[in-house]
Amino acid sequence: MSAANGTSSHAQSEVPLNRAEEVEDLLTSIQNLIIPFIAAADEDAKTKHTGHGLQVKGGGPRTTLVEHHPPKKLESILQQEMEINEAAGGKDGLLSLVETILKYSVNTWDQGFLDKLQPGGSASNATAIVVARNTLYPETKTNGNGDRKFKLFTSAHGHYSVEKAANLYGLGSKNVISVPVDKAGRIIPSEFERLIKESKGRGETPFFLNATAGTTVYGSFDPFEALAGISKKHNMWFHIDGSWGGPVIFSTEHAATRLAGAHLADSITINPHKMLGVPMTCSFLLGADMNKFYRALTLPAGYLFHNAPVTNVDNIYDLADLTPQCGRRGDALKFFLAMQYYGSTHFSKLVANGFSNAEYLLARLKANGNFVTINPEPLPCMQVCFYYAKNGKLNDNADTNSKMTADIANRLISRGFMIDYAPGEEGKFFRVVVNGGTRNGTLDGLVKALEETAAELGY
Ligand SMILES: Cc1ncc(COP(=O)(O)O)c(C=O)c1O
Repeated sequence: MSAANGTSSHAQSEVPLNRAEEVEDLLTSIQNLIIPFIAAADEDAKTKHTGHGLQVKGGGPRTTLVEHHPPKKLESILQQEMEINEAAGGKDGLLSLVETILKYSVNTWDQGFLDKLQPGGSASNATAIVVARNTLYPETKTNGNGDRKFKLFTSAHGHYSVEKAANLYGLGSKNVISVPVDKAGRIIPSEFERLIKESKGRGETPFFLNATAGTTVYGSFDPFEALAGISKKHNMWFHIDGSWGGPVIFSTEHAATRLAGAHLADSITINPHKMLGVPMTCSFLLGADMNKFYRALTLPAGYLFHNAPVTNVDNIYDLADLTPQCGRRGDALKFFLAMQYYGSTHFSKLVANGFSNAEYLLARLKANGNFVTINPEPLPCMQVCFYYAKNGKLNDNADTNSKMTADIANRLISRGFMIDYAPGEEGKFFRVVVNGGTRNGTLDGLVKALEETAAELGY
């Protein structure tokens, strides 16, 4: 090509791209920060059974798990330590920021991290609600709710994402009806049907049931078979929120009883990033009939989607036509890669180990004599719920129990254990979420740390 058309002269004068080298340099430097972060958690695991995490030098009392500060204090520390400028900080600026971020982040590689995990499941549950409404009442897709008084049903132990979705999507969180559960934390089918009939009697339109596979607090699995039958009978969408407990499907033994009837669901949320340890965010909304998802959510925008109108979802390759989002990441790839790396047997073992770890902790607490366990038994999932109760005697005052639980949980952090708690009739109780990789030594250390911390605090 001649220089006359201007192309080659530009090409000659343009600086060659050098992105690969730049990225390699940055990745190597960042890797040099992240690997010691993970290695520290491995080192810490060796002494977790003592009930103390390894102390780490730094600006405050800290273990490998976290340097813990109240949010306000952390905000001011970060304001001082992280210089944020408009001018480019370059590699050094970036590395210094990452170092600070790691310094104040919870190290979730630490064995003592037995707390909650977030995003993805709420979005999947919300999507199911919209697909349900638009499928069962197609005119609502364009006209809105009109005069209908739509009602949704969820377990009294269900996750708040259903109410959140109802207020986001204009259904109103007051229109979510809470269905009573039995002692094992499972929806009572006859109560569900009673509430539907009452709702219909008031001229309302019940259209959605959110059943749960693995409730957030106790880990209960609802009786899906019975609930599916009632939902179908009343022309309702039957959704299962398996954000937490869905992956139990990998263990034939545990799935047999817990997930019986799940195949009858119209949609199921499942988050491999929780129980299976796949990197966040990885949430699936599975549907029995994707044509329904397509009809419920398609909104052809000719400037983006160039497919001819389709009659069958098998011809759709643009997921924006099946979901609320436009652009989206290939989150499923993480799960696919994890499956290829580990094989499905790994996940079966991970789930089975998680169940036996939870049973191990439960047995340790019961044998100890200073705890009162309150979760249903046999354990539905991988959470263990209990109170500290010296000599097995639980305080009569719920507020005292709540304060004691919160005090102990907060203080445990500086020993390298992070556990959550939840409100109960007798005050707040501990809710420990174990996983398939939790070691027995860690759980021995936790029980020791709980007892010693309670004594230190004078409980
Ligand atoms: C049962 C259940 N459903 C939904 C969610 C919400 O999931 P996410 O935090 O991924 O939005 C959770 C979170 O813990 C959960 O336990």
